[in-house]
Amino acid sequence: MTKLFDPVSLGALTLRNRLILPPMCQYTVAAKDGVPVPWHLAHLGARAAGGFGMVVAEATSVTPEGRISDQDTGLWNEAQADAWKPVTEFIRWQGAVAAVQIAHAGAKASTPADHPGNSRQPLPVGEGGWETVSPSGIHPVSGLGPTRALTDDGVEKLIGAWGEAARRAVEAGFQVVQIHAAHGYLIHQFLSPVTNRRTDRWGGSWENRTRFLKRIVDAVVDAVPDEVPVGVRFSGSDWLQDSWGIEDTVALVRELVPAGVQWVDLSSGGIGDTYQGPKGPGYQVPLAEQVKRETADLRTVAGQPLLISAVGSITDPQMAADVVEEGRADAVGIGRAALVRPNWPVEAAQALEDERYREQMAPEYHRGVWGRLDRPAEALASR
Ligand SMILES: Cc1cc2nc3c(=O)[nH]c(=O)nc-3n(C[C@H](O)[C@H](O)[C@H](O)COP(=O)(O)O)c2cc1C
Repeated sequence: MTKLFDPVSLGALTLRNRLILPPMCQYTVAAKDGVPVPWHLAHLGARAAGGFGMVVAEATSVTPEGRISDQDTGLWNEAQADAWKPVTEFIRWQGAVAAVQIAHAGAKASTPADHPGNSRQPLPVGEGGWETVSPSGIHPVSGLGPTRALTDDGVEKLIGAWGEAARRAVEAGFQVVQIHAAHGYLIHQFLSPVTNRRTDRWGGSWENRTRFLKRIVDAVVDAVPDEVPVGVRFSGSDWLQDSWGIEDTVALVRELVPAGVQWVDLSSGGIGDTYQGPKGPGYQVPLAEQVKRETADLRTVAGQPLLISAVGSITDPQMAADVVEEGRADAVGIGRAALVRPNWPVEAAQALEDERYREQMAPEYHRGVWGRLDRPAEALASR
């Protein structure tokens, strides 16, 4: 028995275990309309069936201009919300919690779908690309396309778009909404003094640079019902001099919890041309550990401790179990390892000899793991 497979509360929800599929863009909306396709059902559905406690759908843009590539998913219209419904329904039916990461790439938007995210080349305007928006017209990495600084009015409109996307996420059946504030994308561009040189109320002091995220949290919390927890994914550190660091993250988390944030996920990096941080197994766990330690006194609006998750090169089941057992994080994200192994949680349970997992695995697959169907006719008939 390992705590990794103990349930954990997130607001009124219960995650059946401490394993989270983190958001991973699939860049696969060939129609370029932001509408999820059957791939999303198969990809996310397989990982829900594979035993994850929570499945987080990829960075899903709040506006067309916020997409990393023109083949990203969106939640800026009702057709997109409708198309997510079968995906969320299937995830929930498998006993996993369905979450979505809502996002805006800012100056890192408009990159080609075949080299997205880390691309050092733009998707040119005129070839399906667009001029991007950013706090100060400054690129977080070099080699991107034209970007213009948002006006005050533009910032306000975008905050509204985050609220609207969150409302649609709930309509689409998502049970948790995660705000993407990491990886050098728009919110992170506001947080970091490297990319935010504004002199108005959205830039300059720490108070001003964090205002955009605080306002987005308010808009998202207002837009969703009380039973839908709101999370934030941070780059806990830029790993750069005079930039965003873990002390900034801790201080901001302390302000966001009373505002309604119930889950914080700790990633890192995304600003600057080369990654300067630690590498290797569990390289970001210390960030989660520090936030957990320094927010232990806080309670969420649901009266619970904050759910803190760690992610990044956690591939070994024993390591995942140790991170949770040692109280370094409450949950762990398994990303790339789960791209090749959709049943990562089930395989981990087997490796760790945790029998409870029989109750959580899709009954259709029991024979593959245990040689027999443990939950026969009635379990299948209820589907
Ligand atoms: C294909 C791919 C797409 C990703 N897309 C996203 C994304 O949409 N949003 C995000 O916050 N992180 C994204 N990430 C980062 C992952 O969520 C995760 O934090 C990272 O891969 C480290 O965890 P891992 O070592 O377990 O893969 C992506 C990673 C990969 C490999």
